[in-house]
Amino acid sequence: MGPSNGTGGRTAMRSTKRLKLGLFGANCSSGRAVTLVPERWSGSWPDCLRLARMADEAGIEFMLPIGRWKGYGGDSDYQGETLETVTWACGLLAGTKRLTVFGTVHAPLVAPLIAAKQFVTADHIGEGRFGLNVVCGWNAGEFEMFGATLRDHQSRYEYAQEWLDVIKLAWSPQEEFDFVGRFFALKGARAKPKPYGGTRPIIMNAGASPTGQAFAIRNCDALFSNISHGISFEETTQHVKNVRALAREAGREIDVYTVGVVTCRPTTKDAEDYYHHAIIDNADWRAVDNILAMRDVTPQTHAPEEFQRLRNHQANGMGGLPIVGDPDAVAARMAQLAAAGFAGIAVSFVNYADELPYFCAEVLPRLVRCGLR
Ligand SMILES: Cc1cc2nc3c(=O)[nH]c(=O)nc-3n(C[C@H](O)[C@H](O)[C@H](O)COP(=O)(O)O)c2cc1C
Repeated sequence: MGPSNGTGGRTAMRSTKRLKLGLFGANCSSGRAVTLVPERWSGSWPDCLRLARMADEAGIEFMLPIGRWKGYGGDSDYQGETLETVTWACGLLAGTKRLTVFGTVHAPLVAPLIAAKQFVTADHIGEGRFGLNVVCGWNAGEFEMFGATLRDHQSRYEYAQEWLDVIKLAWSPQEEFDFVGRFFALKGARAKPKPYGGTRPIIMNAGASPTGQAFAIRNCDALFSNISHGISFEETTQHVKNVRALAREAGREIDVYTVGVVTCRPTTKDAEDYYHHAIIDNADWRAVDNILAMRDVTPQTHAPEEFQRLRNHQANGMGGLPIVGDPDAVAARMAQLAAAGFAGIAVSFVNYADELPYFCAEVLPRLVRCGLR
């Protein structure tokens, strides 16, 4: 993330560590694991704060929450309890020293001037450590709860563009501005104070489509990309290169991050056994099937083998890259992702707070030894 983007001087996400690490999804009950095991993540405030402090002490760079409004049902009501992400970030920023904490915000659901001021407030609380994940939404059921319409895909991003343009204007040194666009007409807008320290918060998004990625390239400091099943190392490396090159052509710098789901245990057998226990034997299959059905993945639309593969993939961290093994194997996998050009990884665990200490004690030193931290 180059200072050319106006985020100069910001802390953790700009550290010189080659592979940055974050925790993904801890604001939601069950986090990213669609499982019934009793130790699954609560997502409660005390657990989130305890986790954030642990991560802060260990030098983890960021926490990325999920903007989710409606759970997925099933026997666990998967992600049925979620802490709102900007207020969550405010609390965590107040309770930590170095971490960057993101808010994940659905552009169509919050007026941009209110959002801009919320972000500035969070940023002042964190003394420059707030980050913004802009999402456009995809879940029609959630939008119905707000009485909002989920626009067609292209218009979603056009709307988000104007929304973010207004936010950037509100953060700019201008005393007052007018804005006339397709979606907003604002007159005499004032927004003070400005973000902390004369810079602006890190902005990311996680678009997967060409339109979503072009949005990131135009506007963001970081793009988060899931590695799709069956994509080779070469294709992944090429994806990262392309995104960075397109940004450079536009006079910008962008970092590409990915998402991993870690099961790390003293032996590979222990890790595989736990993975099997939590993610297959005790998956919340009713919730998994609800999630898949929302994307029209059903036994009617997919062949049995492919349907089962997608079910397993979804149960394990909602489709993030499974990283299962002993500390050597986990570190080696992460080193491979760094070699593909990723600037960092947002990881999840079945129980973040129980599993993070072992990960930090065993995997982080291995990453230090290979020059990645
Ligand atoms: C790391 C990551 C985080 C995401 N967080 C959210 C989220 O919190 N809420 C949400 O509705 N969508 C979220 N998404 C979905 C993306 O914003 C995006 O809609 C999706 O990747 C599809 O891309 P597209 O919009 O370009 O089609 C996330 C995706 C990824 C990979």
